[in-house]
Amino acid sequence: MTLRAIEWDPAAGRDRAGAVRLLDQTLLPLRTEFRTVERTDDLVAAIRELAVRGAPALGVAGALGVVVAMDEAVRENWDDTHLQAAVDRVRHARPTAVNLAWGVDEVRPLMASGREAVLSAALRLAREDEAANRELSRLAADWLLERIDRRRLRVLTHCNAGILATSGWGTALGVIRELHARDRVELVYADETRPLLQGARLTAYELANDGIPHVVQTDSAAASTIMRSLVDFAVVGADRIAANGDTANKIGTLGVALACRDAGIPFLVAAPWSTVDLSMNDGSGIEIEERDGNEVTQWAGARVVPEGTQGFNPAFDVTPARLVDAVSTERGVAEPRSGSDLAALAGNIVAARVE
Ligand code: MRU
Repeated sequence: MTLRAIEWDPAAGRDRAGAVRLLDQTLLPLRTEFRTVERTDDLVAAIRELAVRGAPALGVAGALGVVVAMDEAVRENWDDTHLQAAVDRVRHARPTAVNLAWGVDEVRPLMASGREAVLSAALRLAREDEAANRELSRLAADWLLERIDRRRLRVLTHCNAGILATSGWGTALGVIRELHARDRVELVYADETRPLLQGARLTAYELANDGIPHVVQTDSAAASTIMRSLVDFAVVGADRIAANGDTANKIGTLGVALACRDAGIPFLVAAPWSTVDLSMNDGSGIEIEERDGNEVTQWAGARVVPEGTQGFNPAFDVTPARLVDAVSTERGVAEPRSGSDLAALAGNIVAARVE
């Protein structure tokens, strides 16, 4: 089955000139429905609602969002100020994943060259994301198998960093796919990932599709599963990685990393280079998205807390570099805990190998 979180449909849209096609992830795994997006504000809403989500997929959404804004500007007779404001709304739709702003910034300078130039750059960026994910997965699998002496590995992951979070293959789930292809996976523990259940709904969906043995556990089970020696390593994706290796990812990642450190098992971050933000020396400046408290205080639309009780809903946390054994990117593997930072990989430009 070919899953695509986000793509450009060249025949969609009112005038058949093309539009963004999103797999609506708010409905998975119970319903498979797509959204056709041809208005900037609909794209911003889809990003905020997490219909499209995951840092690398947000990068593609940002780049394609510039095309959406340009097409809308023609339809609605916007002047350049109006158009640039629409592009900015896409760029700032969510703050933590650097890929969203990166995707916009990669194609924005091409706006003067016209819509086709922007569209082809956005599509190239999507192809390169999948190629990067495959490469960083191979590197991570090699790194792990050199260090863990066990025939088939038991792995824990948090949130969803798979096909649904990228333009293809996945990052953390890409590493698991790569190990599975080498017949080296025994069992995946997927944390459910409160409050929006990306692990239970999306990661389990992808693992089931691929026939990879897995169970879903509550987030609060993760530390105990690790400390009971049921897991050989943990792998997660990232929303932004600072130069020193401090890593922002879905809330709950930090607890997984702390437990791995105490248990003495590797904690690995898998992310394309587009998630690395060398403008930040460390993670102290990373903006953490705070979402509506109702996502925590309600269950399936019904309130589960006493009337008047508010929710507190930070969507991400920052795992300090001292807890991160390795960051695997397509440019190579850095080992922040041992002091090797990401800047050392900056010069390793790899030719995109699109499969
Ligand atoms: O709020 P989300 O679902 O967008 O959060 C996603 C994550 O935290 C992922 O782990 C991260 O973006 C990496 S996706 C390859």
